[in-house]
Amino acid sequence: MRVVLGVGGGIAAYKAAELVRALEKRGHQVQVVMTAAAQQFVQPLTFAALSGQKVITGLFAGATSSEDTLSSAVEHIGVAQDYDVLVVAPATADLLAKFANGIADDFLTTLYLAFTGPVVLAPAMNSNMWNHAATQRNLSVLRERGHSFADPEDGWLACGTTGPGRLAEPDRIAELVGRFAQTKHDLEGEHILITAGPTQEPLDPVRYITNRSSGKMGYALANAAVARGALVTLVSGPVSLPVPLGVTAIHVRTAVEMRDAVMSCLEDSSIIIKAAAVADYYLSAVPHRKMKKTAARLPLELDPTPDILAEVGQKKGGRMLIGFAAETDHLIDEARRKMVTKNCDMVVANLVGQEGTGFEADLNEVTILTRAGETIHAGPAEKSEIAERILDQILRLRLTLRAIGETA
Ligand code: PMT
Repeated sequence: MRVVLGVGGGIAAYKAAELVRALEKRGHQVQVVMTAAAQQFVQPLTFAALSGQKVITGLFAGATSSEDTLSSAVEHIGVAQDYDVLVVAPATADLLAKFANGIADDFLTTLYLAFTGPVVLAPAMNSNMWNHAATQRNLSVLRERGHSFADPEDGWLACGTTGPGRLAEPDRIAELVGRFAQTKHDLEGEHILITAGPTQEPLDPVRYITNRSSGKMGYALANAAVARGALVTLVSGPVSLPVPLGVTAIHVRTAVEMRDAVMSCLEDSSIIIKAAAVADYYLSAVPHRKMKKTAARLPLELDPTPDILAEVGQKKGGRMLIGFAAETDHLIDEARRKMVTKNCDMVVANLVGQEGTGFEADLNEVTILTRAGETIHAGPAEKSEIAERILDQILRLRLTLRAIGETA
C-alpha cells in the first residue's frame, strides 16, 4: 500500500523515523512530507535515507524556475491522488487545529484538504495542550469526519511532565494503517454505537451485583467495525480489555449510566449493537454505610433497571438496532420475542452457561434472527470471526430492508 506520512513539528518527530521502518517492514511504500517545524527536530535526510524517496518539505521547496514553481504548486494534488492512506505522526495541536478548520498554509495542510482517502492521526503534545478545550473540540470535529486515531498514551513527556500526550508506539500506528490494506471498507461512513461488558449495581459502598461478561464479544465487534471503516463509539462496562485502536470508548459502571451514555450517542448513530450484559435489577436506594454481616438472612428489595434496548427500540427511527439474547434455554423463542417486543431489526442469540462459548469464552456460537424472517447460524468460532459474520449480516439485512422499501 502507498502511504504518505506527514511529520509535524513536535519532539516526537524523531519517532516518525521508527514509524517509517515499521510501515516498510509491513511492505508499504512511504512518502514523507515534513512541516517546517518538523525540520527543526529531524533532518529531511534522515527520512530520505529511510524511505528511499525524496522528502517533500514545502509547497515550493527547491523550485528555481517558473516551471518548477508550477509543478511544485500542483504536486500536492498528485500526491493526494497517488497515495492510499494519509498518516500524520506526530499530529501536533497546531496541525489538528488547521485540519479541523481547513487551513492550508503549507504542503501538508494543503495535501490534507486535497486527500480523499482514509486519514490516520497520531496526536502528540503536552498534556495540558491535549486536555485544552480547543484541542478537544478540534479532535471531535476530526472524529466526526470519520478519521482514525492512534490516541496518545500516558507516560513521561519530553517537557518533563507525565500524563496523556505521548505519541502512540510506531508499531500500533503501523498496525492501524495496515488495516486499510487488509479489509473491505464496506462500513465507511457508518457511525456504529456498540455496548459491551457487564454493569455493576452497588449494594453498598463495598458490594455490587454483576455478571460474567468479559466484554470480548462487544470489543470484537468494535474492532471489526473500525477496521471496516466505521466510526465506532463503544459504551463499555468495567472490563479488562484495551480499547481497540481507532475506537472512541465511553466507560460506565451501572445500567443507568449505560442508558444515559447510549441515549446521548443515539442521535449521531446509524447502527446500534447492544452486546452488553446489562443487569436486570438494581438497588435503587444504596446505603451509604457497609451492610454489617449478621447471622440473619439478608432480604434484598431490587428494582428493574432501565430496559435500554426497549427504549432505543422506541426511539431508533431509521437506524438499525441489533439486540442480543443470552439464554440457557428456549433460545430461539426468547430471541424472537425480544426482536418483536423491543423493535429490533436483528437479534443475535447465544446460549450461555455452557463451557467454551458465551460469557468470558474466546469462542461463541450464535443464531442470528432478522426481521426479514431469516435465521443464520454461525460458529462455534473465535469472537472476532463471529463479529465479522454479524457485521456481514447487518449489511445484508440493510440491503434486504431497502429492497422491500423498509428504510433502515
Ligand atoms: O462479554 P462476553 O464475555 O464476550 O460475553 C458475550 C455475551 C454472552 C455477554 C454476549 O454475547 C451477549 O449475549 N450479550 C447480551 C447479554 C444480555 O444481557 O442478554 P439478555 O438476553 O439478558 O438481554 C437482551 C438484550 O437486552 C441485550 O442486547 C442487552 O444488551 C439488552 N438489555 C438487557 C437489559 C437491560 N436492562 N437493558 C438492555 O438493553
